[in-house]
Amino acid sequence: MSRTVLVAGGAGYIGSHVCKALADAGSVPVCYDTLEKGHAWAVKWGPLERGDIGDATRLDEVFIRHRPAAVVHLAGYIEVGESVRQPKRYLANNAGKTDALIAAALRHHVEAFVFSSTCAVYGIPQTDLLAETHPIAPISPYAESKVRVERALTIAAGHGLHAASLRYFNAAGADAGGEIGEAHDPETHLLPLAADAALGLGPALTLLGTDYPTPDGSCVRDFIHVSDLAQAHLKALDWLVSAPKGGVHEIFNLGSGTGYSVLQAVAETARIAGLPVPHSFGPRRPGDSPKLVGDVTKARLGLGWQPTRDLATQIEDTLRWRRKMPR
Ligand SMILES: NC(=O)c1ccc[n+]([C@@H]2O[C@H](COP(=O)([O-])OP(=O)(O)OC[C@H]3O[C@@H](n4cnc5c(N)ncnc54)[C@H](O)[C@@H]3O)[C@@H](O)[C@H]2O)c1
Repeated sequence: MSRTVLVAGGAGYIGSHVCKALADAGSVPVCYDTLEKGHAWAVKWGPLERGDIGDATRLDEVFIRHRPAAVVHLAGYIEVGESVRQPKRYLANNAGKTDALIAAALRHHVEAFVFSSTCAVYGIPQTDLLAETHPIAPISPYAESKVRVERALTIAAGHGLHAASLRYFNAAGADAGGEIGEAHDPETHLLPLAADAALGLGPALTLLGTDYPTPDGSCVRDFIHVSDLAQAHLKALDWLVSAPKGGVHEIFNLGSGTGYSVLQAVAETARIAGLPVPHSFGPRRPGDSPKLVGDVTKARLGLGWQPTRDLATQIEDTLRWRRKMPR
C-alpha cells in the first residue's frame, strides 16, 4: 500500500534498507535522523529531515510538513558493550527520547508505528529456540532500553496506537544492488569485520569469547539479511493498518531460525572470499548471550513474512559492499 512513512533512524544501516523497500513499494520514506551515526549518502529514496527523536517541536514541524500515515522507529544507539560502560546515555537516547516520538505519533494520529527491538531482550536463553513468549531478562543497558520502549508501546496501545515491536536477531548483508550497506563507526558486527579482515581492508578479527557453553565455545547467532528485515517492516505496516480499531501492540521475532557459531561464520567468510580471515581470540564481551536463535513462526503466520536470503548470500553481499563502500 502506498503511503508516506516517517523513518526515524532512516540514515542508518537497517533504516536505509527500509527506506529503499518502502520506495520500491510505491511509498514515500521521510528520513528523520540526527546523522550522528547515519550517513546523508544513504538517504536516496525520499527527503531527509535532520532532527532528534527527543525534540517534540522539531517532530511537530516534520509531522505537519509531511503528514506521515505511519512511523518506523529505528533510531538509537546500538553497541551492547558501549551500553554497559555508558548505561545512562543508552537509556536516555533509546528509551527516554522515544517517549517524545510516541507522543508525537499519538498527537498526529498515525495509523501504524513499527519499532526496532532486539532479541537481546531475552538475555540468557532458557530454550533452544527463542519464541516471543520466552521470558524477558535483559543483561545489558542496550537491551533494557528496548524493553522500556516495548512497555511504552503497550501503554500507547491503550491510547489507540497500532504498534509492532520487531525483535531482530543479527542483521547482516547489504542491498543486492550495491547501493547501501553497513557502515558503522566503529564497526562491531561480525560479518563486516570478517570481510574487512579477509580483504585486507581492516585489522585481523578478534573473536570475543572461546568458553561459551556452545559446541565450539564461540557465541551462536541467528543472522538475518537486512533486505529480508526491510520487507518485514512493510508487512508489519500493512498488518497494523488493517488491524481492528482500538489500539494494539504486537511483538514479532525476525530471524532466520538457524544458528551459526561465530567460528562457523568466519570459516564461511573465508570459503566464500577465497581468502583466509586473519583472527585472534579475546575475552568475552560483557552483555553478550551465549546463543540467540529465533523461533520466527509468529512472523511467518501472522505477517506472511519469510526470509529468503541465506548466510552465504549475506556474506557475498557483505564482501561486495565492503569492497566499494565510502570510507
Ligand atoms: N544491527 C542489528 O543487528 C540490530 C539488531 C537488533 C536491533 N537493532 C536495532 O535496529 C535499529 C537500527 O540499527 P542499525 O544497525 O541500522 O543502526 P545505525 O546506527 O546504523 O542506525 C541508527 C540511526 O539512528 C540515528 N539516531 C540515533 N539516535 C538518534 C536520535 N536520538 N534521534 C534521531 N536519530 C538518531 C543514527 O544517526 C543512525 O542513523 C537500532 O534501533 C538497533 O537497536 C539492530
